[in-house]
Amino acid sequence: MERRRAAAELGGGQRRTDAHHAKGRLTARERLHILLDEGSFEEVDLYVEHNCVDFDMQRNVIPGDGAVTGSGTINGRLVYVFSQDFTVFGGSLSERQAQKICKIMDMAMRVGAPVIGLNDSGGARIQEGVSSLAGYGEIFQRNVDASGVIPQISVIMGPCAGGAVYSPAMTDFIFMVEDSSYMFVTGPDVVKTVTGEQVTQEQLGGAVTHTTKTSVADLAFRDDIEALLGVRDFVDYLPQSNRDQPPVRPSADPWDRKDFGLDTIVPSSPTQPYDMREVVQTIVDEAEFFEIQPKHAANILCGFGRVEGRTVGIVANQPLVMAGVLDINASKKAARFVAFCDAFNIPIVSFVDVPGFLPGTAQEHNGIIKHGAKLAFAYAEATVPKITIITRKAYGGAYIVMASKHLRCDLNYAWPTAEIAVMGAKGAVEIIFRGETEAGIAERTREYEDRFANPFVAASKGFIDEVIHPHSTRRRIALGLRKLRNKQVESRRKKHGNIPL
Ligand code: HXC
Repeated sequence: MERRRAAAELGGGQRRTDAHHAKGRLTARERLHILLDEGSFEEVDLYVEHNCVDFDMQRNVIPGDGAVTGSGTINGRLVYVFSQDFTVFGGSLSERQAQKICKIMDMAMRVGAPVIGLNDSGGARIQEGVSSLAGYGEIFQRNVDASGVIPQISVIMGPCAGGAVYSPAMTDFIFMVEDSSYMFVTGPDVVKTVTGEQVTQEQLGGAVTHTTKTSVADLAFRDDIEALLGVRDFVDYLPQSNRDQPPVRPSADPWDRKDFGLDTIVPSSPTQPYDMREVVQTIVDEAEFFEIQPKHAANILCGFGRVEGRTVGIVANQPLVMAGVLDINASKKAARFVAFCDAFNIPIVSFVDVPGFLPGTAQEHNGIIKHGAKLAFAYAEATVPKITIITRKAYGGAYIVMASKHLRCDLNYAWPTAEIAVMGAKGAVEIIFRGETEAGIAERTREYEDRFANPFVAASKGFIDEVIHPHSTRRRIALGLRKLRNKQVESRRKKHGNIPL
């Protein structure tokens, strides 16, 4: 047994392991060692072998067949893991490797624990043909079955191609390693043959491409170790499954901590920006904010924090970037985040300072209507506790979409600096008083501002529950979350909604 075990643990052999290390990458087992609590990993299927006889493959059998699978704990909480071994046929997916991955996914769903996949794979095992494709199909089906039931996290730790990217794409979050991990449906060679384009792996599907342009990935880390430690921090925010609540982490941060800096953070000029990240960090426990997709659609912030030790999902317009406007990318980013929080019992706190949806042909012709609707749909569908704080602008459709009272938000607060209106004063006046002199327009604009550039019109209609001192925001949120802990909403019977995908 010991001899067999030692041989299996060697993977593709020393030469390939050395080559792997030389690229700055850890092996499949070294990665699990960092990801999981010391000594907690229990492996299964170490002796599984492939069943391929084409291309003389029966002479080339490596126990474990390119994936290390099993379970372990992260800060004491159970997780199921698979870690693909690039030293074995480039981590490519055989029928038997797929069976191993499916086995731990099934187990995770049965007991209610997250699945973390460390992906390092050249895609379908070419020698196995359709058997390998069938294996991917089985994994995809389980990704979908598990969606909304257990958290699924993918870490991309090498060159991942073909099926090796579609399964991660169906999971909840994707983390990548800079200059070392790539995701593409087809690699640079195929691209060159088919389209004639010359492109490097990095340009085609590196961490920068996927965390800035495509938003396929949520975060990029400097190296394997940083990525794995990042996952450890991250899962601490999440519940084990949709049947559980997120874990509670003791916090020394007073729940009613006042921060008088917030009273002056909003500049007096409506066109002057300020950093909403500072507001978020002031509100959450110990200023810890785990941001998702910080480099994509930076005009909206999404991420996790804690209040009184309990996880909250934060969505916040960021006036520092494009005045916090909602565009296609921001809408998609926030909609998916809201949907995740709702699926996993994580209350949503939204900070609003939004001048509206971004106008222009680029946005319209790429479908801002449908993409903006995603955000409205996700917020309206979410039945978890929802608390909204309007810090400054909440104009037009963006006012409604950003977790307004009308989308069944539970508590809607506004700072005294809030301006809730159909649009900005000048734009509104130029439409309703078209033809007025310049002086007349200026006069009407002042009147409009006096009348509407405040939160009290909305508050007089009950759309804002209370206008609050900015310094008391954390206290209000903490109290609100306590009250909403047992919130229950009866949903209409249906199979599922039809979010505008
Ligand atoms: C079998 C594979 C393999 C594969 C790599 N290897 N990919 N074996 N099936 N798909 C093997 C190589 O033969 C080699 O074996 C070892 O893994 C390392 O590969 P290298 O090419 O030397 O490594 P590197 O230069 O780092 O390039 C990595 C790579 C490249 C970019 C992943 O190997 C590559 O392009 N592979 C093919 C990718 C691909 O087209 N996959 C099929 C996609 S179709 P030795 O013995 O030399 O160590 C697909 C269908 C599913 O996945 C679609 C579902 C929607």
